[in-house]
Formats: sequence, structure tokens, C-alpha cells
Amino acid sequence: MSFDLESLIRENIRRLKPYSSARSEFAGEAEVFLDANENAFGSPAGVGYNRYPDPLQKELKGRVAELCGVDPSQIFVGNGSDEAIDLLFRIFCEPGRDDCIVCPPTYGMYCVSADINDVVVSEFPLSSEFQLDVPAILSGVTPATKLIFICSPNNPTGNLMERRDVISMAEKFRGIVVIDEAYIHFAASESFITELTQLPNVVVLQTFSKAWGMAGLRVGLAFASAEIIALMNRVKPPYNVSAIAQRAVLEAIERRGEIQRWISETINERNRLIAALKRFDFVETIYPSDANFVLVRVSDAHALYRYLVMEKIVVRDRSNVEHCEGCVRITIGTVEENNRLISALERFIQGRDI
Ligand SMILES: Cc1ncc(COP(=O)(O)O)c(C=O)c1O
Repeated sequence: MSFDLESLIRENIRRLKPYSSARSEFAGEAEVFLDANENAFGSPAGVGYNRYPDPLQKELKGRVAELCGVDPSQIFVGNGSDEAIDLLFRIFCEPGRDDCIVCPPTYGMYCVSADINDVVVSEFPLSSEFQLDVPAILSGVTPATKLIFICSPNNPTGNLMERRDVISMAEKFRGIVVIDEAYIHFAASESFITELTQLPNVVVLQTFSKAWGMAGLRVGLAFASAEIIALMNRVKPPYNVSAIAQRAVLEAIERRGEIQRWISETINERNRLIAALKRFDFVETIYPSDANFVLVRVSDAHALYRYLVMEKIVVRDRSNVEHCEGCVRITIGTVEENNRLISALERFIQGRDI
């Protein structure tokens, strides 16, 4: 299906004259900066923090581009990938008129962001295998449908979506397909970044919050065509990623060997935890996971949750989420944390009144 980006953009965004910051207006060599009303004397927080950060995060994008094999113009850096989700609504969805499609059970922020932006959400639940129902989704598309969110590996189910389903949906939909790959580093699958040239309507989201271990810094990424990224840069707040976050991520990229070790260890621990969970008769289903968590259906999720809290262990009770009835989501911890969880589970007595 033909894809006309221009026709998808909200009228006010098309007309928008973006804010021009001091740091983006001057490019070149200078020694005295009297252009941004900063504190010229310094900062109690550390060297350089008295200055505004690079609004377009050029150094960071350069390193990410090398790592991911894309052009820097295809990268958006945000205050978490949640910022990218919100920006996509603001660029493409007319409040009170347009709609988006989500496939529950999935990451809750797509709906929250839609609600904040007054965008109608059409839900097309995943199948019993937690896969996309492509024909149903495509038949639910209306002229007002601007965004389809796909999370792969999906939160909270942990599985990857069938690649051919995602591609066929992107090929047949004339709006934007957002593929959220927050957990891709734990998965036995390639990122959809490699498909961006063939699929100009796809936006791939990734984050430094999960495998990269920097949730506290709030840095997320979107990969897409240079045209879509340019729109995101126009709409974002000028200094959306702090200097400390940009610097820390650049340093972490240099030490990425450590991240690879943690990913391998997380996958080993995921397998070990799954093997241990199989031994408990209160565990009914362990869903296959390509992420750093497992979704587990148990005989009494509320009781198990409350018991674990008493043991000072917090998991996520997902039993009130549609299609996840009776489930808890367990993040893979360190070896010691997982041992502590397993031994607490060994002491859990089904049906005990807590
Ligand atoms: C699927 C998914 N996408 C995005 C996010 C948010 O990522 P960030 O920390 O980059 O905002 C999460 C966080 O849990 C997530 O599970």
C-alpha cells in the first residue's frame, strides 16, 4: 500500500515553526558564550553542567548510528522511549478525531498516551499464543487510524511477534507502525531496524532502560526514516536529554562488553528460573520468554503476590489485566535474587490464608 507521510501529519504540526534554541542557532568555533542566559561561573554539580546540552545529541547519535548500522538522521533520542510514544501521538493523531490500534495484553503506556492526547484506542487482542491477529487488525483500520503499536518482545507476555505478521501489517497499513523493541537485546531475533529501508512507515523504539541498565537516566531511542525523525525533532522540547544522561550513555557504550555479559547471564538465569518454576504445582503455565522477565500463570496470583511481599520480594501482579488472568510477571534478577525467590517459592503453601 502506498505511504504518504505528508498526508498523515497533523495540520498544526505541518504549520509549526519549531522553537529555535541558542544552542541550535550557533554552529562553529567560539570561546565566549553569552547567548543562552546560563551561569557563566560554573556549576556546583560538575564541570560543564552550567551549559545547556546539545539539543540534537549529535555525538551520541553518531555512536548509536555506528552500533546500529543506520544514518544519524534516522535516530531520535528521547527522555525515555515513553517520550517517543507521546511525540508520535502529537505528530500524527488529531485529538478527538483520530485513532490508534493496540494489541492487548501489552505495554500500558500506549493507551495512557492515547488517552492523554484524546486519541481513541481500538483494541485487537493477541491470540491465545499471544500473536497478532493480522486480518482482524487490518479489517479494523479506518481512515482515522494513524498508529498501530506492536511490542516485540511483548510486555507482559515476553514473546516475539511473528516477523512475517509484522512485515505484512506494515506493508498493508498506510499509517505508522510502531514496533517497540524495549526488550530486543534479550531476544533470539534481529531488530526491525534492518527493515527500515523497505518499510518507510515503521518506527522502531528501543531504550537504554532495560539491557543497557540505565533506566534512571531516561534515555530512549526511535529509529525511522530521516523524514519521520525530523518531525520528532521539531516537536520535542529543545533540551529533552540532559547533559549528564548523554555523557553517561556515551561512556556506557564504550563499556558495552559488560552489558553483553549481563545479557548472557540474564538469559541463563531466565532458563534456570523457568526450570525451577516447573517444579511447583501451583504454577500452571510458564509462557515462553524472549525478554528479561517471565509471565507465569499460577493457581492464586493474589495470594502468591502477597506472600512474596511478606518475604520482601516484589513481582508484578498482572492478574487484573485482561488476557493475563491469574498471572504474575517476574523480572529476572541476579543469581542471588533468583535463589532467594526460588527458596521463598519452595516455602509457599498453596491455599494458605495469608
Ligand atoms: C515495552 C516497553 N516499552 C517502553 C518502555 C519504557 O521505556 P523507557 O524507560 O525508555 O521510557 C517500557 C518500560 O517498561 C516497556 O516495557
